[in-house]
Amino acid sequence: MTQVRVGLLGFSAKGSWAVVGHLPYFLSDAGKAKYTITALAGSSLEAAQEAIEVYKLPPTTTAHGSPESLAADGNVDLVVVSVKTPHQYAVTKPILEAGKSVFVEWCFGNGLAESEELAALARAKGVKTMIGTQGRQASAVQTAKQLVQDGAIGRVLYTELSSTAALWGPTTDGKVTWQLQKKNGASMLEVYGGHLMECFSTVVGEFASLNATLINTVPHLAVVDPNASRSPGAPAKTVAKDTPDQILIQGTLVSGAAASIHMGSDLTADMMGTSSLWKIQGEKGRITLRNPTNGAIHVTDAEVVLEQIGVDGSVKVTETIPCPTSTYHTNIARAWDRFATGQPGVDYPTFETGVIRKRFLEAIEKSAATGQRTGYQTYL
Ligand SMILES: NC(=O)c1ccc[n+]([C@@H]2O[C@H](COP(=O)([O-])OP(=O)(O)OC[C@H]3O[C@@H](n4cnc5c(N)ncnc54)[C@H](O)[C@@H]3O)[C@@H](O)[C@H]2O)c1
Repeated sequence: MTQVRVGLLGFSAKGSWAVVGHLPYFLSDAGKAKYTITALAGSSLEAAQEAIEVYKLPPTTTAHGSPESLAADGNVDLVVVSVKTPHQYAVTKPILEAGKSVFVEWCFGNGLAESEELAALARAKGVKTMIGTQGRQASAVQTAKQLVQDGAIGRVLYTELSSTAALWGPTTDGKVTWQLQKKNGASMLEVYGGHLMECFSTVVGEFASLNATLINTVPHLAVVDPNASRSPGAPAKTVAKDTPDQILIQGTLVSGAAASIHMGSDLTADMMGTSSLWKIQGEKGRITLRNPTNGAIHVTDAEVVLEQIGVDGSVKVTETIPCPTSTYHTNIARAWDRFATGQPGVDYPTFETGVIRKRFLEAIEKSAATGQRTGYQTYL
């Protein structure tokens, strides 16, 4: 297999999500079998050179000081873009214009218009794309998808997902305050809603129509040190938030099933105490995914329980289905493996998937603002 030549963007020597989330795969034996790092772009040429040295990348790796310079590198087939949401459009566009394949971290542009423009450009250039919603690869999600497809619970009648998220209040450690403001396009609805909906739609499909309620219950977050104490106390500083931390969605799925989702922010700035519970009820049984200590099923394990109902309505079998462990590392590694050989939009999420996800988020905002039932287009 010819290795894909990879250019990295957003892999700072000082550390970043990409260094934690993506670099381990590209430096692993499995990653090296399919991909080879040939270039890295930093916010300056010096920053790129420093990152190549710090992460001990191959000495042949070319340093670039701008996205345009990386885009012009003839030794690069694919660029991995992992910068903060407000900067994603500007750095991705020149790479697409140069006809290179691109991965962009979620939230895949600031708002729907940027995502649509990037997706249209990628399509016009005929390049391969992927977005950073790795939850599709989570073992529990894939297991539930297979059970539904195999008819283990029969026709799905309703599904109910409840999940709590850290980071959006009532307290914050002060490190990710850019994600509290609507203007940055990476609020709880966009980040958490996008990741969770990737998991949700993989198993039960998209909504045909929905009603949503969005509430900003904590417009000012207390800045606390999560290592100091979990007791409320009286923090001296607060930071403003103009985005919702309680998200309620109800509707009908394309399959005809009823669906209800609640996402709520957790109590603290640290990751303790969050949880998720997702029930998928069918004519012949029920699948339950649960994690009592972490709501983020796109980056953690969830237990999958299958209950099958006898003809008299009694629960005949209850079994916990074994799933391989799932972390952001395993899920991201699976995504890159599938990007190399899998079917776009099925085995991994593409820019087109990202546009559909953004439309879903926009539909939620529209319904919440107008009180109207609304739908969204699930194709480009
Ligand atoms: N998929 C997931 O589960 C997951 C988890 C965490 C973060 N993320 C996403 O990852 C992305 C990156 O987040 P982060 O917190 O690491 O951001 P960051 O800003 O900390 O790191 C990105 C790095 O890119 C550099 N950079 C910025 N502009 C650049 C440019 N034009 N050229 C080259 N380098 C440039 C920055 O200097 C910075 O060092 C965000 O979109 C975030 O939402 C995804």
